[in-house]
Amino acid sequence: MQNFIPLSLYVHIPWCVRKCPYCDFNSHEKDSSFDEKRYLEALLSDLESEHVLCQQRPLSSIFFGGGTPSLFSADAIHTIIDHARQLFRFDDIEITLEANPGTFEQDKFNAFRQAGVNRLSIGIQSFKQQHLESLGRRHDSKQALSAIDTATSAGFDNINLDLMFGLPQQTIEQAVDDIRTACAFEVNHISHYQLTIEENTYFHKHTPVLPESDLLWEMQTQCQDLLLENQYQQYEISAYAKKGRQCQHNVNYWLFGDYIGIGAGAHGKLSSINDQEQALVVQRRWKHRQPRQYIEKTSSGESLSGASTLKQQDIVFEFLLNALRLKAGSDLDIFKQHTGLTLDQLQHAVKDIDPALLILDSNRITTTDRGFLFLNEILEKLV
Ligand SMILES: C[S@@+](CC[C@H](N)C(=O)[O-])C[C@H]1O[C@@H](n2cnc3c(N)ncnc32)[C@H](O)[C@@H]1O
Ligand code: SF4
Repeated sequence: MQNFIPLSLYVHIPWCVRKCPYCDFNSHEKDSSFDEKRYLEALLSDLESEHVLCQQRPLSSIFFGGGTPSLFSADAIHTIIDHARQLFRFDDIEITLEANPGTFEQDKFNAFRQAGVNRLSIGIQSFKQQHLESLGRRHDSKQALSAIDTATSAGFDNINLDLMFGLPQQTIEQAVDDIRTACAFEVNHISHYQLTIEENTYFHKHTPVLPESDLLWEMQTQCQDLLLENQYQQYEISAYAKKGRQCQHNVNYWLFGDYIGIGAGAHGKLSSINDQEQALVVQRRWKHRQPRQYIEKTSSGESLSGASTLKQQDIVFEFLLNALRLKAGSDLDIFKQHTGLTLDQLQHAVKDIDPALLILDSNRITTTDRGFLFLNEILEKLV
């Protein structure tokens, strides 16, 4: 049964030139722990350990995320893709790399493409100097614009731009103007995240003045309208794509597909069949978080920091938590294949949810338009 579940690969590169004040991802300022050669060796060995668990399944996508993967040499990225190709079967799959403006030049982008990367996710955040500064970003507005030109000149035709809104002192017109600039590049995909204040960040201790909720609502609505006018369909809370250009890697996460995570702090999810009961077993796995510790432990064959097997009620909840982020929700065949559960179990889990928010019919489970806007209400009810 598990062979029907797509399997993707996530590779975490945990270093950045500087830590941004709002960021709570597992990213560390590039210091003496940065060692590309040793980290690369650790990644290859981690990949081999994970491969043993994957029962000859092919990969459906690869994603290099961070941190700042574009800090790594194209040779290192090439070596990882080649190694994955030797271990797993795959042909023409989506291979994404996150790149920060100011960390690459034309030659490096050409080399990433030669290495097999066919999708770039560029961390623009804003095109406005004022907001890049208030976010503590390293790049300026000129570098934001030239990064997209550089990527296009290298031949990339599958590009995502990460933008944030709800920034300190940001007006509606400024947020809309960022979207207008992004749309003019005619990229395939735009991710539009509302700035959130996360614990353990500099912004949590020293929170800047952010737009009020009414203003935020209007900002988001006007940005969405402009994206739609430019043929970007919203398919997930923060993701907009031209027709057929959704991020396959992320869609696999949201549809409760399997994935291997290699690198410091990377998470994975793997399904297998329990031979005795013929039931689907879903395991979550995670790696050591600190880069130095990850390198050391992995060199002695112990990249795994922890693992846990999901209980049935966790499986339903996690499935819904992810699938309902998608505007189209999920096909019920996918629910059955990816969870190993029955429709009765799904019906039972959602029985208390207001039908004005959630629809479960004979083919799909999906939020209503209202439910999509109030997703947190649904999830609170499920808990
Ligand atoms: C983890 S970053 C990795 C990409 C790259 N390092 C960068 O910053 O451009 C992925 C994206 O998450 C978004 N992000 C990070 N922290 C955020 C926060 N506190 N609120 C909203 N979006 C955030 C940013 O848009 C960022 O591009
Ligand atoms: S560059 Fe990206 S990953 Fe690094 S600190 Fe900034 S937001 Fe986080």
